[in-house]
Amino acid sequence: MTQRRVLRFPEGFLWGTASSSHQCEGGNTNNQWYRWEQQGRILSGEQCGAGANWWQAAEQDFERAEQMENNALRLSLEWSRVEPAEGRWESAAVDRYRAMLADLRRRGMKPLVTLHHFTEPLWFADRGGFAREANIRYFVRYVSYVVTALRDLCDFWLTINEPNVYAMEGYLLGAYPPGEQKLLRAFRVLRNLMQAHVEAFYAIRRIQPQAEIGYCPHYRLFDPANALSPLDCAVAGIHDTYFSWALLQAGESGRFTFPLNMMVAPLRGAAGARDYHGVNYYTRELVRFDPGAPAELFGRRFMQPGVMHNDVGLDNSFGEIYAEGLYRVLKAVYQRTRGNRPLYITENGFNDALDDRRPRAILEHLAAVHRALSDGIPVRGYFHWTLVDNFEWNNGWQARFGLIEIDPRTQERIPRRSASMFGEICRANAITEGIVERYAPEIAETIFGAEATTERGLTV
Ligand code: FCB
Repeated sequence: MTQRRVLRFPEGFLWGTASSSHQCEGGNTNNQWYRWEQQGRILSGEQCGAGANWWQAAEQDFERAEQMENNALRLSLEWSRVEPAEGRWESAAVDRYRAMLADLRRRGMKPLVTLHHFTEPLWFADRGGFAREANIRYFVRYVSYVVTALRDLCDFWLTINEPNVYAMEGYLLGAYPPGEQKLLRAFRVLRNLMQAHVEAFYAIRRIQPQAEIGYCPHYRLFDPANALSPLDCAVAGIHDTYFSWALLQAGESGRFTFPLNMMVAPLRGAAGARDYHGVNYYTRELVRFDPGAPAELFGRRFMQPGVMHNDVGLDNSFGEIYAEGLYRVLKAVYQRTRGNRPLYITENGFNDALDDRRPRAILEHLAAVHRALSDGIPVRGYFHWTLVDNFEWNNGWQARFGLIEIDPRTQERIPRRSASMFGEICRANAITEGIVERYAPEIAETIFGAEATTERGLTV
């Protein structure tokens, strides 16, 4: 009998999907993204509307996740619902979140709760948001309130989602609210978000000493267009350093990389202020030196021609599908932090409306995770972005990341093939040969080839 090949994941590995409040709940009209939409800034001109209807019926989608035998689910709380006006606490909103979390637990899914995922109440934004250090205390007060109210239902927290994307898109590129283009302010916002994370970390630690608390940067790789060109290497290195790694370094040491440290104050109390490293990874870009592009730090970014890629999106932000990149990021995070904390992949996903690349992409990315595990990197879980199609920020409904398709007009759900495949992987806690044969037979050799073993047991 020929032996079946399998990539088995460690016992207790968390399998889930990730989502955010504004993108899924619907009816959030009191945050700065709603105002952005009302100002006509969504590139598709669409409205979030009912989102994926989670405020009314998230449990129906939780049931779908349960059927996929997910054992975890990441969602976020909408601060603008919990504290609609400064100092006014809405207990009905907290009750709704309590119901959602209780439902997840009943279904055997561990909730990972994000406390800030791009949106904040209008009153907070209008006071200058995270551009003002003095405003951090509002965030910490809200965090203390919700953690106290939910601590019997959740002990796994993610303070701030992608501080680098929030700061860069909102304050440097002007593509997200508040639409500013000010370099210094962007770095100040980045710094204040990290300080807010640190202070939220200690606030949660006091309320719930056993909690697991972290944050997640968006890691994007920037590789030189021509690896033999010193100039391409230099500009790619600059993008790589300042987009991804400066943030991790600040989180670890409290100090920002030169020359950012000349522009912003160091963090207070950063060292040790996280229990895990969250990793959001989607894509990489190539960078070519271009003296005519000072605004892009003299590096023109582009997608390698001819590669498998995402539907690019209206803002062209979703590029190459590059699984090796996930391995590289996991390894780099591990090495740069000297293995001091476990890692969770808090987001990884694909914009693929037709679902004709996603099954293969998921398999390749999970094989990359497995490779990292085989190297001894303590990856504890994988949250796929995302369970159901949802309102994809500036791309509106024109970017489709869901394992399950949604028609936003009718709220009808149609599971994509990827949903059944993800379910099979979670159920098996493994990538089996049968799964690869059913969903992407063309990559069987590359998936199993690298690790020519059978039944490789991993313990982390
Ligand atoms: C990430 C965001 C998430 C979603 C995915 C596609 O940068 O955190 O909300 O938009 O990209």
